[in-house]
Amino acid sequence: MLASKEITLPSGLVLPNRLAKAAMAEAMAPASHVPDEKFHIAYGEWAKGGWGMILTGNVQVSELYLGQPGDIQTPASPSDTTKQMWKEWADATQQFGTPALVQLCHPGRQSPSGAGNRTWFSKNIAPSAVQLNLGPSLLAKAAAALKFGTPREMTHEDITLVIDQFVAGAKQTHEAGFKGVELHAAHGYLLSQFLSPTMNLRTDEFGGSPAKRSEIVLRIIRRIRAETGPSFTIGIKLNSVDASASSSLDEVIEQISLIKDAGIDFMEISGGSYEDPNMLKEPAQAPTSKKSTLQREAFFLTFAQTVRSHFPTLILMVTGGFRTRTGMEAALQSGACDIIGIGRPAAVLPLLPKEIILNEEIQDEDASVKLKPLVLPGWMKWVSITAVGAGLQSDYYGGQIQRIAIGLTPVDSRA
Ligand SMILES: Cc1cc2nc3c(=O)[nH]c(=O)nc-3n(C[C@H](O)[C@H](O)[C@H](O)COP(=O)(O)O)c2cc1C
Repeated sequence: MLASKEITLPSGLVLPNRLAKAAMAEAMAPASHVPDEKFHIAYGEWAKGGWGMILTGNVQVSELYLGQPGDIQTPASPSDTTKQMWKEWADATQQFGTPALVQLCHPGRQSPSGAGNRTWFSKNIAPSAVQLNLGPSLLAKAAAALKFGTPREMTHEDITLVIDQFVAGAKQTHEAGFKGVELHAAHGYLLSQFLSPTMNLRTDEFGGSPAKRSEIVLRIIRRIRAETGPSFTIGIKLNSVDASASSSLDEVIEQISLIKDAGIDFMEISGGSYEDPNMLKEPAQAPTSKKSTLQREAFFLTFAQTVRSHFPTLILMVTGGFRTRTGMEAALQSGACDIIGIGRPAAVLPLLPKEIILNEEIQDEDASVKLKPLVLPGWMKWVSITAVGAGLQSDYYGGQIQRIAIGLTPVDSRA
């Protein structure tokens, strides 16, 4: 089974197998935004699961702008107690040898009001003053205006501060004993806002061409590498070129080339944003052949194949929709990716690799974890805001993580 084979990243980090627990915001941080015992317990469960790599939920680098009130955040000058809580988090997660990475994020214009230590009247920041578009209805427009507002275009000082915050977050992660970081440059958050030609309308050195739109990301990668060293793993989560991205494939390939040359160890491919949350759609029903497995189970594999054809040696992880051993094996065997990212099933079955996917006593046809589609409330059809459906998915699966964190078993929602 290819999924059970180890893989070595350019940093020298060895992943014992190809299954990664994808980043999932836990939404349970205390008011201090420091990882407390609940994080140690939840990640201690995943530690037992036989994963090849564990990614934390997104950790915010700015105290002013969180993705949600329950996010962990990296303070500018952590106290000794904070450093100790972080070390215990890293130790609990890696206690059985699976390497763990912290996902670092800044939400930019996607920070909802009330999430972050800022006044109700201060604006979100973004590369340009472009408001979120949550849909054409009046309700959607009102929700975008009230919850997120029109962001303020970042000054050069803002950009310098954000770069420093990502670097400080990576250094704190390194000091705590995590094996690396993953930069969240997908799902419409700040770094993906910079990469995008529709969200970044700047004409200075941070916008105006695909290369200049990548500049903030390149500076962050180079500084983290310089300040942590060659053996600290740096990954990045990027969106595939999809309907919402409005970037041409050539432009995205140019950006990936620059990002790769800046010195990353792997790239995770996902897709979607609050405007078009296709990363949280329900996977298709059981596939019947290898070909249809690839087409129906993995949301973003076609884009991975394109990236692979341009950058044959770049280590690629694809996340979104994988539910069966056959589907995962087919994706790996196709050569389109090296690592499979698994989100929602990992919240329901934290021991998924050990107990099912990599368990050779289980036949291929039984090695799957199909989850019942969530039943959305009736009022949803009156609210034509797709982000609401994605929010309910996050709430439901976040709720399973919160159950694990207090020692309960997640609700088994397998179909
Ligand atoms: C509760 C929940 C929280 C999530 N939080 C994050 C996050 O913090 N960072 C991120 O990159 N993706 C996040 N995602 C998206 C997942 O990493 C993944 O891309 C998505 O769930 C699709 O994979 P799946 O079909 O295996 O669930 C989240 C998903 C869920 C369900």
